[in-house]
Formats: sequence, structure tokens, C-alpha cells
Amino acid sequence: MRWRSDKGWLELLDQRLLPGQVKYLRFDSAEAVAGGIRDMVVRGAPAIGCTAAYGIAVEAQRLRYLRQSDFDSGLERAFEKLAQSRPTAVNLSWALDRMRRILQAVGSDAETLAPRLLLEAHAIHDEDIATNRAIGAHGAALLTDHARVLTHCNAGALATAGHGTALGVIRSAVEAGRNISVVAGETRPFLQGARLTAWEMVQENIPVTLIADSSAGHLMSRGEVDLVIVGADRVAANGDVANKIGTYTLAVLAARHAIPFYVACPLSTIDLATASGAHIPIEQRASSEIAGFGDLRWACEGAVMHNPAFDVTPAELIGGLITEKGVVLAPDETKIRALFGQGAP
Ligand code: MRU
Repeated sequence: MRWRSDKGWLELLDQRLLPGQVKYLRFDSAEAVAGGIRDMVVRGAPAIGCTAAYGIAVEAQRLRYLRQSDFDSGLERAFEKLAQSRPTAVNLSWALDRMRRILQAVGSDAETLAPRLLLEAHAIHDEDIATNRAIGAHGAALLTDHARVLTHCNAGALATAGHGTALGVIRSAVEAGRNISVVAGETRPFLQGARLTAWEMVQENIPVTLIADSSAGHLMSRGEVDLVIVGADRVAANGDVANKIGTYTLAVLAARHAIPFYVACPLSTIDLATASGAHIPIEQRASSEIAGFGDLRWACEGAVMHNPAFDVTPAELIGGLITEKGVVLAPDETKIRALFGQGAP
């Protein structure tokens, strides 16, 4: 994502077109930004949060010459639209809460508020990169030379403001001089692994082997995976993790084969207000994503289709959460609350 200060609008790399085409789209209203999030122009929990923050900033600029009451109601509608764009990644509401706190602190005078909201969006963006660098540094210590790391979906630069979470750990280990190879699950049905993770790794000459998701158990049983690192869309207070559909399957397989399973995520992905994974809203996406891809359809007409976009991995299957504050081994509510300086509930 890039903010065009010369134009006053946001540009997003259209991730739906990768790896075939590198094309940026322009977004100059909150409604357009919410549509871009919903339609997966941009995706990945931290990237969704940063984008939503820019959505508020761009709307405040767009509305700033209106009557005060119209400005206030327009900005309120922007918060609502953006909040509704996708349900599972908690970074979205986390970023919107930060933007709202600016509104509460500064007041709603547009001339003062609009530039202040933009500054906050920039801060959320820049902090995300710094956070991912810290996650990378902590996580890299877990990777020995020649480690073969299985990852799922895309938790890379594309899914964040930069560097990535799970892929950030891999990048940081490579920067530290280790030889790391990546096994990327293609991540049906939207193919974030095949299209995005493989693309990111190829761009940086990090060896990557793409597999069909269904191959993971076979590779593990042959000793071809040393550890699994994935990202997260929401971590509940008890350590349960919602991430891309298929993550739970990998965690069960990793436990079966005694392969360490780590989740790399910033604190902004941890939702202390959600007690356990059972309470995390799971997005259902269109059946067309299962039936085919783009204009191509391969599924049989008449079959009922079910397309949950995320699943929940119970905390007991997670070896550790790799956060910007360090690695939390065998995460549970007490350890997670301690990250936020809170005692046991
Ligand atoms: O549907 P998506 O592509 O937004 O799902 C993304 C994921 O599940 C990622 O693994 C998660 O957001 C972590 S991104 C750092």
C-alpha cells in the first residue's frame, strides 16, 4: 500500500492479479477502501488494519469542506462501513479504535482532525513494519541453518505494511545468514500460498517449494518439514488462533509428527475481549471461490458449496506465539495477558 501525498489518495497493489500482473488501484473514499478490503484487493490481517486506517484518513480529507454535521455523520458512516468489510481479522477493529481515539482526543473540527488522522494512519503503518522486524528477530532465533519451514496462506510483506509476520521470521533468519527453505501450501481456494507467498519468496531468491495443501501430511511423515510457521487473523485470550482455513489441519498433522508449530503475530492480532476460539466470527466467502477461479469454473453444477475462510487452532496445538515482545511458548491466558501487563483474569 502507498499513500500518494501529492494526490491525497491511497493506492493498493491489486493482490487478486498477482503474480501475473503488478497493478496499483486508487482509493479516494472510505466506501472504496471498504470495497477493496471486502473484495480482497488487499488482505492479511495487519494489512487490512493499516488499510482501514487510511480509509478513515482519506474520508476525512474528502469530507473536510462539508458542513460540520455532514462531516461528522459522513465520518461515522466511514467507521461503520470499514468495520463491516471483513469479520475475522481483529486488526481491522484495532486500527479503527486507534483512529477513533484521535477523533475523541482532537475533536471533530475537520481542519485539525483530517491531517491528524492521516498522521495516525502513517503511524499505524510504520509501527507495523517495526513490529514485524521485532517478530522476525525473535522468531529467527528458532530457525537453525538449513531449516525447512512449512507455511500456509500468505503472512508476508503483502499481508502487512512490510516484512511480514511468518515470512518476516524467515526473512530475518535469511538476513542473519541462515539457509532457509520454504514449503508453501497453495492455500485453496484463494491460492494465497501459490500466488503470493511463492511470489514473495521468488522475488527475494529464498528457495520455495510449492505443494498442494493435501501433500502436507505426506511431507511431514517423510521428515521433509522441520517446523511450521503461520500467521493469525485473531488470537483469543486463551491462545486459540483463527487463521486461514487449513491451518488447523496443519497443526493436527504437526502434533502427530512432533513438528514444532508456531504462530507469528503482532499484539494487535490478540483480542483479549474474545475468550476463546469458539467466539471468533468465521467469515463465509462466496461459493464461486470453490467452484473455480476468476472466470474459470470447474466444479459440478448442483453441488452445495461451503466456503469458511478461516478455522480455529486450539491453543494446546500451538508450540509458541512469536510476537514483537518475544516468543510465548505453550500460550495460555495467563501468559497472553502478561504480554499486555495484565494479571490473571
Ligand atoms: O483471507 P486472507 O488472505 O485475508 O487471510 C489471511 C490469513 O489468514 C493470514 O495468514 C493472516 O491474516 C496473517 S497475515 C500476517
